[in-house]
Amino acid sequence: MHSFDKDPDHIAVEQVLRYARERLLMDPIPLDGPQTEDYLTSAAGQTITAAGLGAPRAMELFEHTLAPACLSTDHPRYLSFIPCAPTREAAAFDVVVGASSVYGGSWLEGAGAVYAENQALRWISDLAGLPEEAGGVFVPGGTVGNLSALVVARDTARNRARAEGTGARPWRIAATDNAHSSVVSMAAVMDAEVCGVHVDEKLRLTGPELRRTLEELGPETFFAVVATAGTTNFGVVDDLESVADVCEEFGLWLHVDGAYGGAGLAAPSVRHLFNGIERADSFIVDPHKWLFAPFDCCALIYRDPELARVAHTQEAGYLDVLTKATEWNPTDYSIGLTRRARGLPLWYSLAVHGTDAYVEAIEGTLDVIRHAAREIEHRPHLELVREPDLSVVVFRRLGWGPEDYQAWTDRMLAAEFAFVVPTTFRGETLTRFAVVNPHTTNEDVTAILDTMS
Ligand SMILES: Cc1ncc(COP(=O)(O)O)c(C=O)c1O
Repeated sequence: MHSFDKDPDHIAVEQVLRYARERLLMDPIPLDGPQTEDYLTSAAGQTITAAGLGAPRAMELFEHTLAPACLSTDHPRYLSFIPCAPTREAAAFDVVVGASSVYGGSWLEGAGAVYAENQALRWISDLAGLPEEAGGVFVPGGTVGNLSALVVARDTARNRARAEGTGARPWRIAATDNAHSSVVSMAAVMDAEVCGVHVDEKLRLTGPELRRTLEELGPETFFAVVATAGTTNFGVVDDLESVADVCEEFGLWLHVDGAYGGAGLAAPSVRHLFNGIERADSFIVDPHKWLFAPFDCCALIYRDPELARVAHTQEAGYLDVLTKATEWNPTDYSIGLTRRARGLPLWYSLAVHGTDAYVEAIEGTLDVIRHAAREIEHRPHLELVREPDLSVVVFRRLGWGPEDYQAWTDRMLAAEFAFVVPTTFRGETLTRFAVVNPHTTNEDVTAILDTMS
């Protein structure tokens, strides 16, 4: 199978690169859409066979049957969840990462990749105003980023308690109900408990409400506070300054989840919302969300990476050559051992375009969402639920119930016109645009809103 003689014309490689080239340069991109399992069973049939289908058939199946059954998350009218709109450079470089068998876990094996990834992490740390010593690793996504950071928070709290002889084993995390679902899920993985803090009228976590929860339940039972810098549903940035004050007062780890919103740090028009983030103990942002990198990539950064190294380094005889070395081994800063150098597509795109281009692209998406908000305000049958802070806007169509929203979504998807799913908030079905794609234009959002009259 690995022998070059088996495929002297390299048909598979040529086909794959031809497809990748065409998809990377495709304009416009089809929205495509899901198919039923019955359809795929009849159209694709059994694809794994003892003898193999051969490269031409396997590629044909992917190109004409499987790929069209996958939504293009980089389509300009894909505004659901958080879209993924990589630069062409970032997406193309992902092909290089896959082709190069680079191991991104250790300096010994991947020094060049680790060096480059660390420069990309440095740019993000500097945007947040974290100190020189801050550092971290690119992990698969915000969920793993949140888990890895919280593991370090708990380890640090328990080590401190041990050193002070208190024997305390704090198990609680403070966050609001608006924190991402991954926080609750990952707390369950850690057998920890998330205690909901009330939000203020702007839906933010604030210092005073945090203090109330801590005092009510006993601050010694907590090991971390999770603040969100850009909630997924609304793009709300918590009041990081007052939250950091309370964390400092009680000696609690402050983790800031900026998986979606953290890219806003680069945008001068919203940078002030993030004030206080420079006091975080750990921070995540997903470049596959609003920093134009392909799936799957989360930048996880610690103020004091040594605490993370202590919590995460795996010890084994065969790894001694790595763990006893003094160089930076990314794998020591998160859960998981083997790692793909998944930060390289972001690095390459940053290196090609420069950071100013990122500022401009992020500001551009903010302009589009502000346009959407004004359009919504001007239409009597639509109502803003909340003025957008970042690049998400939530609104209601007066007179519509859940079935109407869903039917509208289905119609637009069936026509491959747009993909906008409903959301819910406090029991009410609403709809929501998330714009992180610089190809999404004012005309796109206007055209979608026109279909709601
Ligand atoms: C604020 C926030 N945190 C965490 C996550 C989880 O990230 P991932 O889906 O990359 O695991 C998301 C995903 O949308 C998010 O918006």
